[in-house]
Amino acid sequence: MIETFIDQTLLELTQRGLKRKIRTIEGRQNREITIDGRKVLNFCSNNYLGLADDPRLGAAATASIVAEGFGAGASRLVCGNFSSHQKLEDCIAKFKGTERALLFNTGYIANMGIISSLYGRGDMIFSDKLNHASIIDGILLSGAEYKRYAHADMESLAAMLKAAPESVKKLIITDSVFSMDGDIAPLPAIVALAKKYSAAVMVDEAHGLGVLGRNGKGAVEHFGLEGQVDIQMGTFSKAAGSFGAYCCGSARLIDFLINKARSFIYTTGLPPNVAAASLKGLEIIVKEPQRREKMWENTKFITNGLKEMGFDTLNTQTPIIPIVVKDSSLSVDFSEKLLAAGIFVSAIRPPTVPANTARLRVTVMATHTTEDLNRLLSIVKTIGKESCLI
Ligand SMILES: Cc1ncc(COP(=O)(O)O)c(C=O)c1O
Repeated sequence: MIETFIDQTLLELTQRGLKRKIRTIEGRQNREITIDGRKVLNFCSNNYLGLADDPRLGAAATASIVAEGFGAGASRLVCGNFSSHQKLEDCIAKFKGTERALLFNTGYIANMGIISSLYGRGDMIFSDKLNHASIIDGILLSGAEYKRYAHADMESLAAMLKAAPESVKKLIITDSVFSMDGDIAPLPAIVALAKKYSAAVMVDEAHGLGVLGRNGKGAVEHFGLEGQVDIQMGTFSKAAGSFGAYCCGSARLIDFLINKARSFIYTTGLPPNVAAASLKGLEIIVKEPQRREKMWENTKFITNGLKEMGFDTLNTQTPIIPIVVKDSSLSVDFSEKLLAAGIFVSAIRPPTVPANTARLRVTVMATHTTEDLNRLLSIVKTIGKESCLI
């Protein structure tokens, strides 16, 4: 029976142009990667600052392996808590200007653990319609009432908050940079509504850390909202070039999560060398603002170029630049033609994005050269014309 179910599901996905496959990268992760023995330009990673293969991260991890070994050996509450974990938690809390921080093994399980430990049956969670899957899954796991407001629509959010009973425990949760659309959440308005209706605010800065704000602290810094967001979650797996996630907030919040977040308690600690590499990534974010400046320069160049050609790039404001082609099969076709021409941009299809909004998700890095950028624009233009998209 299970075989029939699997076969039917896979067939259906294939027929609808939604079947996914994994491509293997041979060698290092940067602006140029090797796939199937061919070097291609990489325009789809979240490695915005080009740190994923920075030798300094590798050296930090190696030094930790020498000093601390490889595996954590146990959950952090048993005997798997190392100096590297502690140092990273202290540094990210200091960087974000919060009392404390707690590491989680990934952003996905951070969202599951934070949301489901703090909220449950009888509570209400107000979530942007385009929030990341890990937020949605965290809400579903919590059992709280799930209220989806229209994307970045503050009237929709205000109406839902107004209709909610005053006595109910409420949370408003949003991506800071929307991972598939590249726009920035209207955080000042969210914070104002939260104050008005006595709700807490949680922000997922997965794509905000290292990208937004004068010092790369994220959307909270970008909007000058320090001290006004209750829960700041984010990851080291994107701009910081490493792996793992954090939750920053009050000492009280972190103490609560250590005691109640099941995805923190019941899992082996992150290998300490990964925490050491994340710490190095964070240090580079602080010390090398020129990387962020270059990333923004490259972002503006590509966004303007694609817009001038007439592509639909939605309301992107960041290095995540969608090229909406709507049809799923067409998006795969576009991606394959790009790959044949030496450029890797993966197609993003439902259910990752809403129906009929399949797209190429172009992402820009600090390390892309002017030649790389011009090559992308020129090839995308040719294929876009052939496919009657522009
Ligand atoms: C907004 C957002 N939150 C959370 C995650 C999950 O983070 P991780 O890859 O560390 O699990 C991602 C992407 O992966 C994301 O885009």
